[in-house]
Amino acid sequence: MTTLVLVGLQWGDEGKATIVDVFAAQSDVVVRYSGGANAGHTVVVGDEKYVFHLLPVGVLHPDKISVIANGVVVDVEQLFVEIDDLRSRGLEIGDHLLVSSRCHVTLPYHKALERLDESLRGKQALETTLRGVGPTIVDKVARSGVMVADLFREQLLLDKLRRNTKEKNLILERGGLSERFDANALVQQLRPLSERIRPFVADTSKALADYIDRGKKILFEGAQGTLLDIEHGTYPFVTSSHPVSGGACIGSGVPPTKIDKVVGVLKAYCTRVGAGPFPTEDSADAGKLLGERGKEFGATTGRPRRCGWLDLVALRYAARINGIASIVVTKLDVLDVLDEIPVCIGYEHGGERLTEFPPEIDVLAECRPVYVRLPGWRQSTRGLTDVAQLPSNAMSYLERIEEEMGVGIALVSTGPRRDEMVVLDQDLISF
Ligand code: IMP
Repeated sequence: MTTLVLVGLQWGDEGKATIVDVFAAQSDVVVRYSGGANAGHTVVVGDEKYVFHLLPVGVLHPDKISVIANGVVVDVEQLFVEIDDLRSRGLEIGDHLLVSSRCHVTLPYHKALERLDESLRGKQALETTLRGVGPTIVDKVARSGVMVADLFREQLLLDKLRRNTKEKNLILERGGLSERFDANALVQQLRPLSERIRPFVADTSKALADYIDRGKKILFEGAQGTLLDIEHGTYPFVTSSHPVSGGACIGSGVPPTKIDKVVGVLKAYCTRVGAGPFPTEDSADAGKLLGERGKEFGATTGRPRRCGWLDLVALRYAARINGIASIVVTKLDVLDVLDEIPVCIGYEHGGERLTEFPPEIDVLAECRPVYVRLPGWRQSTRGLTDVAQLPSNAMSYLERIEEEMGVGIALVSTGPRRDEMVVLDQDLISF
């Protein structure tokens, strides 16, 4: 087995980064395949806290190759903010980082367009991260995008930017925004960044094919989560890319026949940042407690995350869409203080009981969760590493997840650090 995809099963923020970091240790290559600088991946190593938006978490392992594959949209300025931050902390980013020449580039006008789009939506705003990711992907699909390869072809770049700035300036003017963009100025602005990114640029799908042929272990590091997927998420309250496991193929050029295993990551409760339906949201004291104990603030925007309970209807759906072989549960310790823990096992809609996640957003918004209340364990699991130390009610909680999802749990995190993990089944995570 040489390839493994790690995906988020909820609305992102499942705590994937630490898990990626753990899996990276047994990989040769770590690949980011979707999203852009909208992601917020936090890893704690010893006393150091690292927050990544664009760089794969794999860069924390200088002996591994890290790849930003074609499915990621790249804000080149942000990329070097992160690289420079790591350098200032003693972590050199050299030839172990590859960036696909086919990545699309986020430009300053994308961020302006996103602010306009959000303001025009008024009360129906999506509450995006305003990192320009959506408009960059809109340009990709509209076939007007600027790719990393274009950064080194100045005439082509200028031609594209002339066309794009003409269109974007018209939109911004009609939308009442004062910002305007000039193609020549953008080319000047991009020139030093292009020179900096040049050494990292590669034909990454070819590089990945070669690594696979040589039997290297490839880890695909998901960003965001299944319910934010543009195709399979809670549209239109989604991101614009493909966090699901299928996105690993589109976003890297590695074919489905070469994907060996998919592991899903879920948080022991549920959070969402931004607008959109969230059936198990708890805006009362218990939800606030989850937010406080789980430090649930967006790593990209600093916004407080909406908190609620485990939704097994949504998780069964996510398990199906991703084809997961095993589960990683994160942040179990956040639940340590609760007397009982509600777990959603179905929805009620229009007097009917639903057990499938409804594809229509208005139906989902009207769904009421049907809860079972499982007994809490009221003792600290923080930092536990041995399965024998897990309280029996915590084990029952985990077993209920396995039963409902029909998939085994391999790993449980009990704190933010790399080493705060309980391995339940080594076979389910090794590759
Ligand atoms: P966008 O990706 O900035 O376009 O935002 C679209 C939606 O996805 C918003 O609700 C964001 O809050 C959400 N989102 C984007 N990235 C993340 C993430 O890394 N974690 C959680 N939510 C995210």
